[in-house]
Amino acid sequence: MSEVLLELNHLEKRFPLEAGLFARYGRFVYAVNDVSIKLHRGESYGLVGESGCGKTTLARLAIQMYKQDGGEILYHGRNSGSLKLSELNRKELFNYRTKVKYVFQDPARSLNPRMTIYKILTAGYRQSPHWPGEQNAREEAAEMMRTVGLNPDDLDRRPSDFSGGQRQRVSIARALIMKPELLICDEVVSALDVSIQSQILNLLLELKEKFKLTMLFIAHDLTVTSYLCDRIGVMYRGRIMEEAAAQDLVQHRFHPYTRLLYDSIPSRMNRDMNLSGFEPFDSTRALKGCPFYHRCGSRTEKCHNRPPMEDLKEDHLTACYHPCQ
Ligand SMILES: Nc1ncnc2c1ncn2[C@@H]1O[C@H](COP(=O)(O)OP(=O)(O)O)[C@@H](O)[C@H]1O
Ligand SMILES: [Mg+2]
Repeated sequence: MSEVLLELNHLEKRFPLEAGLFARYGRFVYAVNDVSIKLHRGESYGLVGESGCGKTTLARLAIQMYKQDGGEILYHGRNSGSLKLSELNRKELFNYRTKVKYVFQDPARSLNPRMTIYKILTAGYRQSPHWPGEQNAREEAAEMMRTVGLNPDDLDRRPSDFSGGQRQRVSIARALIMKPELLICDEVVSALDVSIQSQILNLLLELKEKFKLTMLFIAHDLTVTSYLCDRIGVMYRGRIMEEAAAQDLVQHRFHPYTRLLYDSIPSRMNRDMNLSGFEPFDSTRALKGCPFYHRCGSRTEKCHNRPPMEDLKEDHLTACYHPCQ
């Protein structure tokens, strides 16, 4: 495989629970529990899992919107050398965020309704040391509109003039105008109609080739992710349960949770991917053994200990003492 671009090493993140009338003070939501992922240059990595399993938190750690409580993030950029994110000062972090861009799920809320599309596309760019001046930026913005399948004549319109799918194209254009190396797409198609979803997915595939992007693609839908991604990590309660090449995972699913995910599609799952017939997990308890213990049909005493990630097949990691065959 190619060189590593981003390394998430043993990341941990917990949020204090708001102390309400009945809540005890000092309790936490354990959102990310010791996650390690390596993103290779040029690959697209799909992160899948139920709502609330910690995908967005992990993405936000990757752009340092939150600081991790444990672990470290290393970035090996082309011109930046190797960076340890916890050691960056404000300016260095700003530069890092021009290389690693995050596209949100909800285009309606992430675009300022009072700004024109041109202003939206260039607001961040304007602050960067690579700002090319108004005239060139205007040309670049027009070119970027064409690239994402929008009309450059619409640069002076506002978000309300666009449909959901078009707004998501604007969000993608805003991320790409700064020529990032890594694009993080957090449920970018989840809020869109199915017919529009495939258009955006195909656009992402095109852009990935065109700009030689590395992608972290977050979704709760395994089918969508398998279509777009080279490798997939399956997440549950803030941990990676199984990780393999997308093609491989279609054929071999070793973790009982991954099985459940695949088999649940689509009949037993609603859009938000809460599996019916199961209690949702309680993230306010610190994880000790296997995160899937309470739902697993194959559990034994041993599963009270945390299963390590092991290679059951080449480049196919599974964290389970009783993998399916
Ligand atoms: N800023 C926050 N403050 C408190 N709790 C949070 C915050 N962000 C996420 N959480 C909690 O952390 C857990 C993981 O959330 P999230 O990362 O958004 O999951 P996902 O993106 O997989 O749906 C959830 O229980 C969520 O309620
Ligand atoms: Mg999310």
